[in-house]
Amino acid sequence: MCSLVFMSYIVLGLVMALGSGFIGAEATRAFFVFGDSLVDNGNNNFLATPARADAPPYGIDFPTGRPTGRFSNGYNIPDFISFQLGSDPTLPYLSPQLDGLRLLVGANFASAGVGILNDTGAQFANIIKMFGQLEYFKEYQVRLSSLIGTAQTQRLVNRALVLITCGGNDFVNNYYLGPNSARSRQLALPAYVNYLISEYKKILRRVYDLGARKVLVTGTGPLGCAPAELAQRGKNGRCSTELQLAASLFNPQLVQMIIQLNTEIGSDVFIAVNTREMHNNFISNPRAYGFETSKVACCGQGPYNGIGVCNLASNLCPNRDTYVYWDPFHPTERANNFLVQQMLSGTSKYMYPMNLSTILAMDPETK
Ligand SMILES: *[C@@H]1O[C@H](CO)[C@@H](O)[C@H](O)[C@H]1NC(C)=O
Ligand SMILES: *[C@@H]1O[C@H](CO)[C@@H](O)[C@H](O)[C@H]1NC(C)=O
Repeated sequence: MCSLVFMSYIVLGLVMALGSGFIGAEATRAFFVFGDSLVDNGNNNFLATPARADAPPYGIDFPTGRPTGRFSNGYNIPDFISFQLGSDPTLPYLSPQLDGLRLLVGANFASAGVGILNDTGAQFANIIKMFGQLEYFKEYQVRLSSLIGTAQTQRLVNRALVLITCGGNDFVNNYYLGPNSARSRQLALPAYVNYLISEYKKILRRVYDLGARKVLVTGTGPLGCAPAELAQRGKNGRCSTELQLAASLFNPQLVQMIIQLNTEIGSDVFIAVNTREMHNNFISNPRAYGFETSKVACCGQGPYNGIGVCNLASNLCPNRDTYVYWDPFHPTERANNFLVQQMLSGTSKYMYPMNLSTILAMDPETK
């Protein structure tokens, strides 16, 4: 009885919030995130996997000073996009806190270690593969429908902004994992890239079918220049040629595929984000952005602090803001902020066919 009364309070509160807050928040868009460790806000904390960032010094510059599961010293790319939307950061879909009204903000489905292919990241055991993330997106919509109805749910999803970041692990944690990976024995690099692009297209098509209408799709960064690759593959501090070649094949084909897909759909649903070019700017001239180094990771060990994982036993730099890389693979909070600034105002060289400012200025009802 008691709990029934309590329940109806919650329902009443929800209805009131929907009547005022939700409708009043018309200008705010929901935000959904899919992909890998570059955008995971903590889903892997809830999974039995070694791919996790839930121990110090991760999160050292987060407002709480505590690790959150983000692969950053502080905020990551989705967080800075959320701030532009005027919203709180998206909660991980697996977080028990993601419930009730919080569902209206959106959700983060990303899982560190995943790639485009189902076999990427197999060494990380229990991670949420891309198709699994999309199944959760479907489940999310069912949950939200039970709160606000199917029509409002569909409207919220259609109006939302979506970010997808994956592909790097298909090289680093699959094709180039070890000198003789199954995929590298099966396919030459150009054929492998073609295959990745065709599988990625299926994922994007599914995102569209699930209701997404404005989707930022990031290419891979300059994979060969990450501190991990400088330490393991690069010669004398030069970026790894194999991984740079992989990124230079993958990124332009991704843009072509996105243009093709938008043509098939008849609308500019997908936006290509050239993170490689953005990142290259830091690498070619770190000081222009106030960075001391783009080669050495802040947290790690060995050459370039690029070996192994970042933990309490690692070297840790005193000023994270002067480093492009936080750990052997992932950017610092400050670099993430710059990347989002570029998404906002970048020209068509960085953002094709439009930048994030243009999207934010558009009426979300525009199809
Ligand atoms: C990957 O897995 C999903 C479902 O788990 C399946 O639908 C899809 O066809 C698989 N992709 C490949 C290339 O096997
Ligand atoms: C990108 O965004 C800015 C606003 O910050 C806008 O003035 C500019 O025209 C946009 N550029 C392109 C190429 O869309």
